[in-house]
Amino acid sequence: MSTQTITSSQQAIDTEHKYGAHNYHPLPVVLNRGEGVHLWDVEGKHYYDFLSAYSAVNQGHCHPKIVNALVEQAQQLTLTSRAFYNDKLGAAEKYVCELFGYDKSLFMNSGAEAVETAIKLARKWGYLKKGIAPHNAEIIVVEHNFHGRTTGIISFSTDPDSTKGFGPYMPGYKVIPYNDVDALELALKENPNVCGFMVEPIQGEAGVVLPDEGYLAKAYELCKEYSVLLMADEIQTGIGRTGKLLASYYDDVKADILILGKALSGGVLPVSCVLANDDIMLCIQPGEHGSTFGGNPLAAQVAVAALEVIKNEKLTQNANKLGEVFRERMRSLMSKRPELVTLVRGRGLLNAIVVEPTADGRTAWDVCVELMNKGLLAKPTHGDIIRFAPPLVMTEDQLHECCDIIEDVILNF
Ligand SMILES: Cc1ncc(COP(=O)(O)O)c(C=O)c1O
Repeated sequence: MSTQTITSSQQAIDTEHKYGAHNYHPLPVVLNRGEGVHLWDVEGKHYYDFLSAYSAVNQGHCHPKIVNALVEQAQQLTLTSRAFYNDKLGAAEKYVCELFGYDKSLFMNSGAEAVETAIKLARKWGYLKKGIAPHNAEIIVVEHNFHGRTTGIISFSTDPDSTKGFGPYMPGYKVIPYNDVDALELALKENPNVCGFMVEPIQGEAGVVLPDEGYLAKAYELCKEYSVLLMADEIQTGIGRTGKLLASYYDDVKADILILGKALSGGVLPVSCVLANDDIMLCIQPGEHGSTFGGNPLAAQVAVAALEVIKNEKLTQNANKLGEVFRERMRSLMSKRPELVTLVRGRGLLNAIVVEPTADGRTAWDVCVELMNKGLLAKPTHGDIIRFAPPLVMTEDQLHECCDIIEDVILNF
């Protein structure tokens, strides 16, 4: 056994390929430094980040305030487990409850864990408060959802890559089309044992798919009518990304269960959180749910710092303003290559373009490789969609520079 110092991108790629599971298909770029909207590879080449680690790095890479919170706390106390209290968790819980307007919060680590937590909460509430008979609770979800990778969560995925070969699947879910309130009403009417409806206000992984205006508000109304909890998965859309603190606010909806992750730590640590009012959260009793690392003092300090950065630097407002500029530039680009770029969509700084394959078989992947060569990092999804989600600390000048790179690549593709 020997340690290895990586000195070239190719060496890093080869080592990962040999010793790591092949569960991702990354662009061939090896990063070793980040600051704000900037990234550098092992050879020192500079890139603009246009993915933000799937919207986890909304505050920009290595934000000094968040890193300071991490370092200071790391020198004091990192983990106690919840067997004991720590002096930081309560303050973080209070901060998120006041910011998002809920009675209680429950900290976990990954997004998938927070989704699992929300599902358990909804089921428990269904049995204790709605009076559903044991093991009969059902949760409604939508097609093309992405909520994570656990065996429980993939049980209701409609993406064959997520599900194939991983069965048996967990029962207790009903999948309906997205953006379809009639389908929701029918599903609610059909089954009195529904305890929750879980939805992404904008479907990020599906390719930044926006529902019609008012969809979430109508869904919330229906949920109230049928005594069902609306569970908003804002792991990707939340925390300023879409130009409001939460994407649900576009429909003036406050979900019964709010699920957060990713940018809750500014990309510094895995930190996720579920928020709900007492009548829901207190359905879970001591010993019924938890995580060794969930609510650790490091995560607590980092989460507060990360949320303060969003507020103090007005990053939500910046995302809203720059989103308009970005889509305007992309629409103008689409008008110049309408056969290649067929759609521009998004909200705030969560955007996507649809790229048609060329006659000679080049795809969105090749566009991303070209963007990479020109110093901008974005990733294709579902073959023909490119998501554009830069850190929210980007300036308007930087955004125009990035749009110039995208334009250059598309016009010469
Ligand atoms: C909407 C949504 N939910 C859940 C998850 C899962 O989060 P994690 O990868 O941290 O488990 C993601 C990740 O992309 C997501 O976008």
